[in-house]
Amino acid sequence: MSITYKDEEGIRGMRVAGRLASELLDYLTPHVQVGVTTNELDKLAYDYITGVQGAIPAPLNYQPPGYTPYPKSICTSINHQVCHGIPNDKPLKKADIVNIDVTVIKDGWHGDSSRMFIAGEGSIAAKRLCAMTYEAMWHGIVMVKPGARLGDIGWTIQKFAESNGFSVVREFCGHGIGKVFHEEPQVLHYGKPGTLEELKPGMTFTIEPMINLGRRDIRELSDGWTIVTRDHSLSAQWEHTVLVTETGYEVLTVSEGSPPPPPFVAALAHA
Ligand code: MF3
Ligand code: CO
Ligand code: CO
Repeated sequence: MSITYKDEEGIRGMRVAGRLASELLDYLTPHVQVGVTTNELDKLAYDYITGVQGAIPAPLNYQPPGYTPYPKSICTSINHQVCHGIPNDKPLKKADIVNIDVTVIKDGWHGDSSRMFIAGEGSIAAKRLCAMTYEAMWHGIVMVKPGARLGDIGWTIQKFAESNGFSVVREFCGHGIGKVFHEEPQVLHYGKPGTLEELKPGMTFTIEPMINLGRRDIRELSDGWTIVTRDHSLSAQWEHTVLVTETGYEVLTVSEGSPPPPPFVAALAHA
């Protein structure tokens, strides 16, 4: 399989799917509280996607080669869990940091987005990690325009994260997305400027950096899905699906409740 370039109809489909993914996160937001279980969040998500959005939860039964089918509709990764955490019956505790990663399929098109949440009041370190990871994602997004290269995105994310004392997970990356959940290209969150694939209008892919407070090394749990930091340090992740336009980027996973871009992004736009 190779990179797919979306035409006007594809872009319209990707905008709808992206908006639905973001609206699902908006819907879940007030429920992310101390005491709620991630299984409760998963059920709320399943019912909303299928009942209200008329869409399909892409993770449910998703089975890449070498994996067992993913058993839930969303991924919920708590504290030192890096990604692909499986919802369960454990209630969230005060100061837990939670990544909720959702992917919906609407009319065949995929929208993929994740945000960080903190149950109750978080520690200063946890809040800083979540905020810096959000900024790291946006440093990648603003690089997106025709003629830029994938290496530019990875490099700027790595530079920002490491210069602030964090580490970047290497084993998982962003990805092309469209009619297929994970398609080419791979979007690494580290690398060198001016390298790898050149961006062209019509490409749609995710940028989804996983940033650790400690070392970058990870390990997979015996459930076959959950990824954790080896040193058990906190890990954060944010994800948007973006389109390469004729002049730059369009974030597809947006809705009323999307957190605003960090201040440096507006400053760039007005420069
Ligand atoms: N949504 C994740 C991503 O950003 C993939 C989750 S695969 C699952 O690519 F099966 F764990 F849901
Ligand atoms: Co993704
Ligand atoms: Co995702």
